[in-house]
Amino acid sequence: MPSSSLIHQACSFLEKGHLVVIPTETVYGLAADASNENAVLKIYELKKRPQFNPLIFHVYSIKQAKSLAFFPDIALKTANHFWNKGRPLTLVLKKSLSNLSSIATAGLDTIAIRRPNHALCLKLLETFNRPLVAPSANYSTTISPTSSQCVKDSFKEKTPFIVEGGPCVIGLESTILDLTSDKPTLLRPGGVTKEELETFFQIPILENRDPVIKSPGLMRRHYSPDKPLRLNALSAKAGEVLIGFGPLAPIGTWRNLSPTGNVKEAAQNLFKTLRDSDALEGFKGIAIMPIPNEGLGFAINDRLIRAATKD
Ligand code: TXA
Ligand code: MG
Repeated sequence: MPSSSLIHQACSFLEKGHLVVIPTETVYGLAADASNENAVLKIYELKKRPQFNPLIFHVYSIKQAKSLAFFPDIALKTANHFWNKGRPLTLVLKKSLSNLSSIATAGLDTIAIRRPNHALCLKLLETFNRPLVAPSANYSTTISPTSSQCVKDSFKEKTPFIVEGGPCVIGLESTILDLTSDKPTLLRPGGVTKEELETFFQIPILENRDPVIKSPGLMRRHYSPDKPLRLNALSAKAGEVLIGFGPLAPIGTWRNLSPTGNVKEAAQNLFKTLRDSDALEGFKGIAIMPIPNEGLGFAINDRLIRAATKD
């Protein structure tokens, strides 16, 4: 289907209060018109997402973002810097007094906003001309989707209309940065690294010590495969499939996230490899080699720790 008619159809579904699957540079999203409470509710129903977990508002421009939140100087500078460069950074700001869905913000007085960097998604936002709320297009606590096929594998016949945008180039969700307190605080590591943020702000970036209270979606168990996942493995035990990283992966490693040890490549491959390992017959567990805890590796390890958590 030509992209103009994809966008046209997606807009008409959204206008009618239906959900639409959208491509972004991070992961695929399950989008609804942010101004339509019934449509927003459908996201929670389909994903089986607890209602205390607020959604990210996706905007076309800083101008549109300003209609949703208060933008102190520092927030404006941050958005200008990262969004104009197409970097995956979600900002948490004080909600402004507009008629925002209180379901989408889970009754908080703050709001999470980002500008996705994907040509089709931006075209959709521009044409629709209103913000879209969109969590990752998967069941709550399961592995996020990095292609439209992953979305179909999750939702099967319940899959809404898909705007096909190819595989996601980053493969990990956006970084979430809280700018509502004195110091910028990292709520979720992601595509923009802590090092990048520290270079920009020229101060150490705090990490949220109580993410569940500040960012209710950051539950300990998340991104979970059905099979148990063992971290920092150097080889597979009986019944395990081994996911490798780097040139030292032993012979017999099933997949290697990056044979050269490149964390960017590993991030792109992470979720798909976890899904495939989970679906692989004849193995009862997944083992994964250590990933260096720097740059994007920090965000990868954040996801792996949650994926390995059982409670
Ligand atoms: O890359 C991404 O951010 C993807 C794509 C689709 O844009 N979206 C995504 O959404 O990862 P989701 O719903 O899977 O994660 C959103 C996170 C949750 O942990 C939620 O708690 C947090 O954002 N969040 C939303 N509003 C918030 C707020 N006002 N304060 C703190 N955290 C918030
Ligand atoms: Mg998610």
